[in-house]
Amino acid sequence: MKFPLLFSSYRLGGMILKNRITMAPLFLGYANADGSAGELIIEHYREMAGSGAAMIVVENVSVHASGMGHPFVLRLDDDKFIQGISKIADAIHSAGASAVMQINHAGRYAYASAQRLAPSAFKTGDVIPKEMTVGEIEAIAKAYADAATRVRKAGFDGVEIHGGTGYLLVQFLSGRTNLRQDEYGGSLENRMRFPLRVVDLVKEAVGNAYPVGYRLLADEWLPDGLHTGETAILAKELQARNIAYLSVMAGTYDSFFLPEYIKEESKDAYMAHFAGEIKRAVPEMTIITAGRISSPETAERILQEKTADLIGLARVLFADPQWPGKAAGTIDAPIIKCAPSCTVCLNRVMQGKPAFCAKWDKKRREQFLAMHK
Ligand SMILES: Cc1cc2nc3c(=O)[nH]c(=O)nc-3n(C[C@H](O)[C@H](O)[C@H](O)COP(=O)(O)O)c2cc1C
Repeated sequence: MKFPLLFSSYRLGGMILKNRITMAPLFLGYANADGSAGELIIEHYREMAGSGAAMIVVENVSVHASGMGHPFVLRLDDDKFIQGISKIADAIHSAGASAVMQINHAGRYAYASAQRLAPSAFKTGDVIPKEMTVGEIEAIAKAYADAATRVRKAGFDGVEIHGGTGYLLVQFLSGRTNLRQDEYGGSLENRMRFPLRVVDLVKEAVGNAYPVGYRLLADEWLPDGLHTGETAILAKELQARNIAYLSVMAGTYDSFFLPEYIKEESKDAYMAHFAGEIKRAVPEMTIITAGRISSPETAERILQEKTADLIGLARVLFADPQWPGKAAGTIDAPIIKCAPSCTVCLNRVMQGKPAFCAKWDKKRREQFLAMHK
């Protein structure tokens, strides 16, 4: 075996992962307009799970109507969505992978909701969100817990709390966007209060044995934003709360389009050093790293150097669902790489349209576009 660590099994919470390859959450705008799961998204996850990755983390689902980041985002703010969502879990399981679902509230990045909620009235583009009252803070924390309960009921093996991409939990954590004067703002302890309240309520709702992961934003990639000095302290708090894993990422919508971010983002394993910094702060914790891990050689090195315990592939797996098979040597063909300069999937999502990959063969792209203009 050429990549012995990559293809070694791993115990994560109650799950036994057959290898170290996971799919990192990748929102593609595939949900139905009412937030339910239909054939497009179910078949997409069947394909991703069929890749041979051990664990699939399904893209962010919204815990509350005010927190939808996009018109075609999955919703779990009502029991009526459980049935459709359970079909995604079934599709993943039948393809032989473990299934985890990510839960989210987009806060100031929510799309066109009547009133965007955020810790403070920090301007986003032309929009000034509403500063949440303490009552709203508690209601939204409860909404995360209710959504986590629905994830469990839908048959998923675990739930991941989205503490990345600059969404609501990051908006509370960051002194840049949280300007509150009460017990939820000011000191790091106060800024961590809301994310940790969410964690506590989610853990209480699903039970301590059920795996709860956390997408951790290590660095906002902005000079006045969050850095690992603070986020490593959050990592320790999460460890103390028996979080199953930290999936480390960096950057927010305020940094993703800056030239310096775009330059870094084009490099192989561009977020691994952040994962390594968090791993050093909490060495006992399971750490997932993602970010253009385009070859099994890079993945094996990350594992060998103990930068992370698990590999996360998002666009990388979307561009080539045969990545795991090719890495294992069961498929004899070169890996099709997600191109660093390509923004087709992201642009489609930003336009409110279902994403496709520029690397798909012509026939597949044409068929997809004929169905999803
Ligand atoms: C179109 C798009 C959608 C994404 N959706 C999510 C998401 O729903 N939740 C999340 O935590 N990260 C999301 N990410 C970030 C990915 O999980 C991942 O960290 C990043 O794309 C780097 O990995 P990759 O190079 O394999 O794509 C998204 C990224 C892109 C480009």
